[in-house]
Amino acid sequence: MCSYQSHVSLCFKKRTHTCGELRKSHIGRRVTLLGWISSLRDHGGIFFINLRDRYGVTQVVVDKRELIDRVKRWRSEFIIEVTGEVRERPPDAINPNMATGEIEVLADDVHLLAEAKVPPFVIADDVKVRPELRLRYRYLDLRRPAVQRNIILRATVVREIRRYLDEHGFIEIETPILAKSTPEGARDFLVPSRNFPGKFYALAQSPQLYKQLLMVAGFDRYYQLAKCLRDEDPRKDRQPEFTQVDLEMSFVTEEDVFELVEGLMSHLWKTVLGVELESPFVRMTYREAMERFGTDKPDMRFGYELRDVTPIAKASDFRIFKQADKVVALLWQDELSRKEIEELETIAKEAGVGGLAFMRVKDGTIAGGVSKYFSEELQKGLLKLLDVRGDGTILMTAGDWKPTLEAMGAVRSKLIERLDPPNEYKFVWVTDFPIVEKTDTGYEPVHHIFSMPKRLDFEHPENMVGHVYDLVLNGVELGSGSIRAHKREIQEKLLEIIGLTKQQMEERFGFLLEALEYGAPPHGGIALGLERLVGEMVGDRHIPNFIAFPKTTTGLGLMEGIPGEVTPEQLQELHIKIEKPKQ
Ligand code: AMO
Repeated sequence: MCSYQSHVSLCFKKRTHTCGELRKSHIGRRVTLLGWISSLRDHGGIFFINLRDRYGVTQVVVDKRELIDRVKRWRSEFIIEVTGEVRERPPDAINPNMATGEIEVLADDVHLLAEAKVPPFVIADDVKVRPELRLRYRYLDLRRPAVQRNIILRATVVREIRRYLDEHGFIEIETPILAKSTPEGARDFLVPSRNFPGKFYALAQSPQLYKQLLMVAGFDRYYQLAKCLRDEDPRKDRQPEFTQVDLEMSFVTEEDVFELVEGLMSHLWKTVLGVELESPFVRMTYREAMERFGTDKPDMRFGYELRDVTPIAKASDFRIFKQADKVVALLWQDELSRKEIEELETIAKEAGVGGLAFMRVKDGTIAGGVSKYFSEELQKGLLKLLDVRGDGTILMTAGDWKPTLEAMGAVRSKLIERLDPPNEYKFVWVTDFPIVEKTDTGYEPVHHIFSMPKRLDFEHPENMVGHVYDLVLNGVELGSGSIRAHKREIQEKLLEIIGLTKQQMEERFGFLLEALEYGAPPHGGIALGLERLVGEMVGDRHIPNFIAFPKTTTGLGLMEGIPGEVTPEQLQELHIKIEKPKQ
């Protein structure tokens, strides 16, 4: 039997509506609402309560004396039950910013369902709070409408992804989280085995090898919303635990993957945002993206392209330019102060060049900076090459191909932050990535090592371009994929290039190499970062905003207190001894 006798009720009436539902058409109806007190105001004997749930906020008016005695002891975040009549608000009390702003509920019965301690911060969108405190009490921060909108947006996107892929013949298959280490460029999280002392599982960094094996198994079209775990330092656009929209197809070319993904993006933008995307998306090789924008993730919303000025710069008297492999320039249509240029130089140096030179352009002539090393004729050539039309600053840097372009790319990225981003979605496929790059110690995969080269050149592996592509949106890498090396000999050769011995190959990838001998179809696919995708849809690059329980930038779970200690017994079972770090 339910009783309301105690001041906190153990039972509750069924709600008739949510807090976001009532409109003018409900006027005169008797309703019951359940929710959290978002605010409570005493207007001289009449109480106004804003009642909140995930659907919205409704204003409740309490003016009955017997109810007021109860209500005046209540505070924000208490959970209450309200029954009363929906009535029209007086014209001067209408709130156009609230979906329910034309009505209010005049309470004739109210009950307290749960008390709440005073929260450590006010639960409202426009309040400044330390991010650590928000994460410590994430379940409270998750009550905020703006945070809920992000999480609900993620769920909507996931639903539409599933709908689209299901309609296109894809089968959702889960693959193991307890997996074998597959190097994806990050460190593994390791899980010790209790039954096999000294042996470890690796938490899957991605389903890469499993999805390839599913193609060998004949599933033809696979997808998964896959949790990926990588022990890398989290950043604004990275988390140690994130989700990929992972997919793989058999008997396909790059074109088929592009078409499918463009269709998926168009479907999402249309159904979730009501926006028609232009397709096909722009395509650009890795080389072109580097030469024009100094990055493999070009933000195509802006111009400010890099220019190769090597011949002119080499003809100047500036020693560094004369000796360089490559000299690139960027024309910024504005005057930059010395301090601003110094800041940009620091960014350029971090990317691996010796410095950043400059010249100023005023009234069609060049002056200042390194201009004294350039003859009048060379200066004219420079103005023409850079298509200079007004005043501005020419920035130049020199060195080897990659660091020079990357340095100017980093400078460009910094400079375009000053501009108002246009409200546009500029997708681009960056294609033809090299399979490997040369390092001091040998060769490293540029993406991963399971991609099919376009041309085999095992003598000069660094020249080998692959069927490897990224999907970039507004300067953010949304996804990455490739057509895979589906022949054992080619896969083995690639592993050899990155320095694996036959024995290491067998140990680490024996199961894949073996599978490739049992009838492996040509196949390829892609993985899109779900949080990045959802974030870019609404122009928010802070991906923890799209994760219900994210980690901090140092990988801490502040709410649960993780990573945490475990008992000596647990360690013993796992055959692990902890060596305390030396102080
Ligand atoms: P890759 O490692 O490039 O490729 O990952 C694919 C996409 O996943 C997203 N992403 C991340 N998002 C948040 N936090 C992270 N730490 C993080 N790391 C990656 C990015 C990225 O583009 N198996 C291959 C894909 C394939 O070849 O099919 C892979 O995992 O948006």
